[in-house]
Amino acid sequence: MMNQPKGETISFVLRLTVVSLATFWSVKWLMNHLDPTNKSKKKAKEAAVNQLKRMDFAKNKIAVENLSDYELMIAAHIVNPKDIDITWDDIAGLEDLIQELRETVILPIQHKDLFADSLLTRAPKGVLLHGPPGCGKTLIAKATAREAGTFFINLDVSILTDKWYGESQKLASAVFSLAVKLQPCIIFIDEIDSFLRARNSTDHEATAMMKAQFMSLWDGLITDPNCTVMVMGATNRPQDLDRAILRRMPATFHVAMPNVAQRRQILSLILENEPVAPDVDVESIAMSTEGFSGSDLKELCRIAAVSRLRGYVQQSLNRRLGSNGEDDNFHDALRPIMMDDLKLSFGSMRESKIQCGSLTTQSRIELD
Ligand SMILES: Nc1ncnc2c1ncn2[C@@H]1O[C@H](COP(=O)(O)OP(=O)(O)O)[C@@H](O)[C@H]1O
Ligand SMILES: [Mg+2]
Repeated sequence: MMNQPKGETISFVLRLTVVSLATFWSVKWLMNHLDPTNKSKKKAKEAAVNQLKRMDFAKNKIAVENLSDYELMIAAHIVNPKDIDITWDDIAGLEDLIQELRETVILPIQHKDLFADSLLTRAPKGVLLHGPPGCGKTLIAKATAREAGTFFINLDVSILTDKWYGESQKLASAVFSLAVKLQPCIIFIDEIDSFLRARNSTDHEATAMMKAQFMSLWDGLITDPNCTVMVMGATNRPQDLDRAILRRMPATFHVAMPNVAQRRQILSLILENEPVAPDVDVESIAMSTEGFSGSDLKELCRIAAVSRLRGYVQQSLNRRLGSNGEDDNFHDALRPIMMDDLKLSFGSMRESKIQCGSLTTQSRIELD
């Protein structure tokens, strides 16, 4: 009589266990599949682990296993200096600025011990590159990462701002905790104004909190004299930056619109390995392109180089259409870039710049 309820109890407990386990695993499976960030988290984690392995992470005595999930998500943005193809030689006309950057930023971060005896020569904890668009700020940051050879986190701020509230704060703190583990390390934030713009009343509460948190984490770096972590920012709009941020970036570099000598150097660099006809006068293009950025000059040369193709295509079409197939003027190779191509390209770019207001009519210098 006593055995029957005992057997029933055991089978009840067993069934209950099975049901509980099944429920637990189903809920877990569902949660994993319902979390929309799960896939991207997993991908970022895999990318980070691979990247860290490639960078000989073990040498820094940090195991990938010791990084939190959030730190791994940030680690996906680590740039391997060996993968960067920009060197100082790819930047023209900014030799003085580069020299200063090397002395105040790169050397102190590379040779911490050498600079330890003086507070004045220690690597700054914040560096700001500012100036008009297309003048080489991003180029400089890339070349810095390559030359410094240290860990370089290219922080895409959208991963901090797009995440659900709560996650963004964990990610922001992971940026700093990872950088401290990796030090020496540079955290680069391109277009930093879009993220750390002056705080105003229209700020979402979560945004305001994240900015405050970011600054307090940054202060943690500043107060620790032995920490070699630097935040490097680039912006076209320094006037939009929060004053508190500007204070945290004592080393500022102004990357200005190129002057005539700099434009000549930029043009020479762009055209260095291009097939250029002897009639091309770089000096006169440099003189006429007041108000053109480095990126405008590149576009000017690109349009000129492409215009050669138009003639080539037309010529080869004519030849195919021609009955005799003989054309003494036709060459199989493309002709070089000529001064006329550059003049045409200059004319069209200048017009569009005047129309969009970035060039005044006073600065209309004829190229002849
Ligand atoms: N000083 C320069 N020397 C050579 N190329 C330049 C220079 N400044 C700008 N460029 C050209 O313009 C492009 C855009 O420059 P970038 O560094 O992205 O400008 P910014 O970040 O200041 O807006 C570069 O990829 C390069 O082709
Ligand atoms: Mg840029």
